[in-house]
Parts: sequence; structure tokens; C-alpha cells
Amino acid sequence: MGLHLDWATPAEWAERVGANPLALLSDHAHCELKAAASAQAMVAKNGQHGELAQALSAVAIEELEHFRQVHELLLERGGRLAPQETNPYAEALLTRSAATRSRRFLDRLLVAELIEARSLERFVLLARHLADPELAELYRSLMASEAGHQALFARLARSLYPADEVERRRGELRALEADVIAGLPFDYRVHSGLAGGFPDAVSRSPE
Ligand SMILES: [Fe+2]
Ligand SMILES: [Fe+2]
Repeated sequence: MGLHLDWATPAEWAERVGANPLALLSDHAHCELKAAASAQAMVAKNGQHGELAQALSAVAIEELEHFRQVHELLLERGGRLAPQETNPYAEALLTRSAATRSRRFLDRLLVAELIEARSLERFVLLARHLADPELAELYRSLMASEAGHQALFARLARSLYPADEVERRRGELRALEADVIAGLPFDYRVHSGLAGGFPDAVSRSPE
């Protein structure tokens, strides 16, 4: 489904990350908030493209709705939104792509496409492998929307830039994304990695 990624997350990641649902939900809520803010920033800077402004403001609204949905579940379970932390995944993608960048906005669109693709990959795993049926259903319910966002960012890139340039740059950024996420340590976050393996204690403590 969707964009091919250069590194596939193993199913065990989803089982492990499900051991701390409140941390996962809080991080996920922040991701949705960030996605909404990022879509709005793209509209503010590129409002001369009318279709882009319409499409990305719709994305911003959807991401904010996702935030409310995830946040509501977090509150229902007695959790609270944790203070915003740095997002090493998104930050590494943006900093490390700068070295080989020729067009800033093309990179912005392609990085957004990749983040949507990775989020979708993770949601599919969570929907399939989480033991908690309510959480699994949450992730199942978000899959179609994130697949739509991924396709939209791809369409916008193709509508604004030459196809061969988009393909070439997407390939470079896809390899970079795989390197970034595989190199991150495991954490109870949507975009954590597996460097250093899983913490032993986690498998033994149910919550
Ligand atoms: Fe979302
Ligand atoms: Fe999204």
C-alpha cells in the first residue's frame, strides 16, 4: 500500500510499543498537532498556489481532528498530554536532507510524503498487532486518512516540479529516511527505531 519504504518495521515493534499506551498516545497526539501546524505553514508560504492552499488547509483540519480524537482517548484513560519533546525523527530528516537539497519546497513536500508513509506503516502494524482492541481500532480508523495525505503530497510534488526530478529526489530522501529511523533508539513513540534493540525490562512489565 502506498509508497515503498526502504526499511520495514518489524511487527515486534508494535507489540513492544503497546506496553506503554499513554506515552504512545501522548507522542501520537503531538505528531498530529505538528502535522496540522506544518500543513498550515506550507499554506502560509505558498498561498499563491490556490489548489495547494485549499488541499493543505483541509489536511490541517483533518490532522487537528486526529489530534482531538487521540487526545480524547488519552484523557479517557487518565493520561495527560506530556510537554512537547524534540522529535529526533523529523529533525534528523530536515537537517540531514539539507546537505543535498536543491529545492527547499520540493524537499518539504517529499519529506511530508515520507512521514505520512512511515506513519501509515506504523498504524497498519499497530492495528494488526496491538493486543488492546480499542487502541488497535483507533489505528485502523486513521489509516485511510493518512494514506490520502501521503498521496496528496505526492500529487502536489508532481504538479509543481518535473517528474524526473521528483523521482530522483524521492529516491534519495527515501534512503535517508530509512537510515534515520533504523538508527533511532526504541521509545514509546510513533517514530521510534530499533537501534540497540528492545529494552529487556519492557517485555516483562505489562504496563
Ligand atoms: Fe493525522
Ligand atoms: Fe497525515
